[in-house]
Amino acid sequence: MDEYVATNRRNWDERAARHPDTDFYDVEGFLAGESSLYPLEREEFAPFVERESPTILHLQCHFGLDTLSLARAGANEVVGVDFSSVAIEQARDLAAEAGLGDTAAFVEADVLDLDLDRSFDVVYTSYGVLAWLSDPDAWAATVARHLREGGTFYIVENHPVAGVFENVGDDTAELAHPYFADEPMMFDAQGSYADLDAEFEHTEQYEFAHSLGEIVTALAERGLRIESLHEFPWATWRMYEGMSEDDEGRWWLPDDVSVELPLTFSLQATKRTTGRG
Ligand SMILES: C[S@@+](CC[C@H](N)C(=O)[O-])C[C@H]1O[C@@H](n2cnc3c(N)ncnc32)[C@H](O)[C@@H]1O
Repeated sequence: MDEYVATNRRNWDERAARHPDTDFYDVEGFLAGESSLYPLEREEFAPFVERESPTILHLQCHFGLDTLSLARAGANEVVGVDFSSVAIEQARDLAAEAGLGDTAAFVEADVLDLDLDRSFDVVYTSYGVLAWLSDPDAWAATVARHLREGGTFYIVENHPVAGVFENVGDDTAELAHPYFADEPMMFDAQGSYADLDAEFEHTEQYEFAHSLGEIVTALAERGLRIESLHEFPWATWRMYEGMSEDDEGRWWLPDDVSVELPLTFSLQATKRTTGRG
């Protein structure tokens, strides 16, 4: 395992231990029957799950809340993958507690070299996944390798343009990070998006900037036909100070910013029958 993966995994193991107890992840609400999916996925993707009852591979599933919500939305089978052993253990416990142990399975693995030796109707991944991955082409190969021909790939993710800025407010923004980058960025900070005050022992993280073009091209080169690419001016977490949350869990730029920036994107693609993935 390379140094970047090992460092990130130490940090994610600690976050995974903390996150189920946060309001952000509302496990209690989930166990009472609520879906953890945001309105966007419920509108763009869940009707397909309900209608088609597909088998779903969920990449970077964290502790399984969305995976299990997809099971509840009507998936025939869900398999969640994450490299954090803590997250996978929590996901298995949560599946049992929610009575979804027969529909859901969880696998501990690095998505960049995942090979489950089978394919799925759908590969799904969401919010806060690509920045941890060094190699978009290896990621796209994993997606293609696990999709049956004609199968659907769906991703909803932080928009890479949003990663460039810090201190957004009063109609200005600091250009803080590169949009195009070959080298990882090292961050060393306490807290997480789900608990800003959390204190961790392993605070170092490596993040990788991937442009939208890099992401789309990696998928296209692995035999995926892009069906839609939507961009939205809101995030699902407080990306910048001063943002405000609406009652659907969407975070909007501060009121004193008069332009909209792309903060989230969703992409749907179909695996071509002639792809090389
Ligand atoms: C921000 S979380 C995804 C959150 C998910 N949308 C949710 O809200 O539950 C990112 C996840 O990616 C996982 N991860 C990071 N790098 C990974 C890798 N190389 N292989 C597999 N999982 C990885 C982390 O352990 C973490 O659970």
